[in-house]
Amino acid sequence: MKKILDFMTEELKAAFAGAGYDGELAKVTVSNRPDLCEYQCNGAMAGAKKYHKAPLAIAQDVVAKMEGSLVFSQAEAVKPGFINLSVSPAFAAHYLNRMAEAPKYGVETVENPKKIVMDYGGPNVAKPLHVGHLRSAIIGESLKRLNRFMGNDVTADIHLGDWGYQMGLIITELRKRQPELPYFDNSFTGDYPEEAPFTIGELEEIYPAASAFAKEHEDYREEALEATFQLQNGRRGYRALWNHIMNVSIADLKKNYTALNVEFDLWKGESDSQQYIPDMVQRLKDEGYAHLDDGALVVDVKEESDTREIPPCMILKSDGAALYDTTDLATLVEREKLFSPDEIIYLADKRQELHFIQVFRCAKKTGIVPEDTKLTFLGFGTMNGKDGKPFKTREGGVMRLETLIHDITETMYSKITDNRTVSGDAALDTAKMVALSALKYGDLSNQASKDYVFDVDRFTSFEGNTGPYILYTIVRIRSILDKYTTAGGRTEDALILPEESESAKALMLSMAGFSAAMETAYEELAPHKICAYVYELANALNRFYHETRILSEEDEKKQKSYIGLLKLAEGILDTCIHLLGFEAPERM
Ligand code: ARG
Repeated sequence: MKKILDFMTEELKAAFAGAGYDGELAKVTVSNRPDLCEYQCNGAMAGAKKYHKAPLAIAQDVVAKMEGSLVFSQAEAVKPGFINLSVSPAFAAHYLNRMAEAPKYGVETVENPKKIVMDYGGPNVAKPLHVGHLRSAIIGESLKRLNRFMGNDVTADIHLGDWGYQMGLIITELRKRQPELPYFDNSFTGDYPEEAPFTIGELEEIYPAASAFAKEHEDYREEALEATFQLQNGRRGYRALWNHIMNVSIADLKKNYTALNVEFDLWKGESDSQQYIPDMVQRLKDEGYAHLDDGALVVDVKEESDTREIPPCMILKSDGAALYDTTDLATLVEREKLFSPDEIIYLADKRQELHFIQVFRCAKKTGIVPEDTKLTFLGFGTMNGKDGKPFKTREGGVMRLETLIHDITETMYSKITDNRTVSGDAALDTAKMVALSALKYGDLSNQASKDYVFDVDRFTSFEGNTGPYILYTIVRIRSILDKYTTAGGRTEDALILPEESESAKALMLSMAGFSAAMETAYEELAPHKICAYVYELANALNRFYHETRILSEEDEKKQKSYIGLLKLAEGILDTCIHLLGFEAPERM
């Protein structure tokens, strides 16, 4: 369905052309002075030079051609040459009635759907999931949903960090604690136990203990590095242990991501890329892309136009070990082979930007991915505490994601039970849903690349630009619609009528801007634009609700039109929060 701004621009084009001016000058935008008008066109200003004429005169000529317009109720030429526009209530009503019938409320899917792989989440196996990984999951999930909504074919890959030094550390620590286990006995040829020799709780304690110990003890660290090497080179007992670590860890990760409403199609990881490394390295050498630099194998990726130093991409360390660059390149080999995607979108901390510049350049230069494959890195900022420093627990440690979610849910639970609107099990379910909205909206409403302050008090508030406020608005409309149907009203045939009141009009125009807002958010990969839109709509809705008697309205048609507005608003808001990655409870 055409965007409402496109209808307006067309109307203006005809008026410009009718008055003898270039139709290209006509472009309608939402007014930046909403106190003066709803929309505006600045084309006459731009035309002044071309036609050697005062902009106001041009604007007046154009406005004269707009008499009898069905789209605009008012068009006014004002100094120095703006055209101020108000949309006709009848046209707005007509447009909204069509939106209500259209799939996706009129948002058009992309003309040429793309095959996209999204690489987000990126947790490291056996290390506890911490808030640093939260942003990747939240933003990535929203962008996945938005891309799918726009018609693209998206495969979401969690890309586990499952092959590094942390694995060697865990193996070494286990060996120290339980040397009698068969995994460490090289002469053992039987089947290894099916049961893992640790629980997730133990695993989470083992890693930090080992990591801290290694920092203090050189020989222990050597041992861990050696264990990593042996694992990567296929030592049987270590592979078996690695499988246990993976199974225990992944089960726990799945639980956490499910609680976050985040879902992946693929649970691949760095380890899956290993099989592609030998051939890839051989080819890079054979074709002359890679050369030795101080014993390490590297590919130069600097370019003439660089304004800063871009160091070479590291393929192999001097001891032959693969690195972060290597796994990401080999993962590209695999993705190309399995999916030949049009685009790959990566989400990671913005401090990893240089790594991705190197990997992308190297992949393009060496033909690992074709020239026209789009490689996109979306770097996000840090989640800070109120003190402006990276978010920590009260004791100063790294905050575990589970704890964070738990704490917010508690806060929400006490607020909800204080309100006495829901109780018992229902209250806990509701608290979980509202807490998730607080967490996700608090993050997503900020531009991804910026650092932001994680402020539980603000995020969990029912007022202001927060997730709970949006949910509260949805729940409120649903309750009105419920009351209406319980009293025997039908919402299916609700026809929206031309509304004259200011608050109704504002609500209508906000809803009419839905597809434009979604398109912008999609083009800029910017969930915060969805939030900005949702917030504007929720405000318009609450204002309308406060200024309008809905359930007590006696004129039936009028009442039905109000119901039509609420129903459409509910549908749009519900679509938006789905795109953000959370849902509304029945009551709150
Ligand atoms: N595991 C990495 C980390 O914790 C993030 C992975 C991002 N994705 C990638 N393909 N490198 O920092």
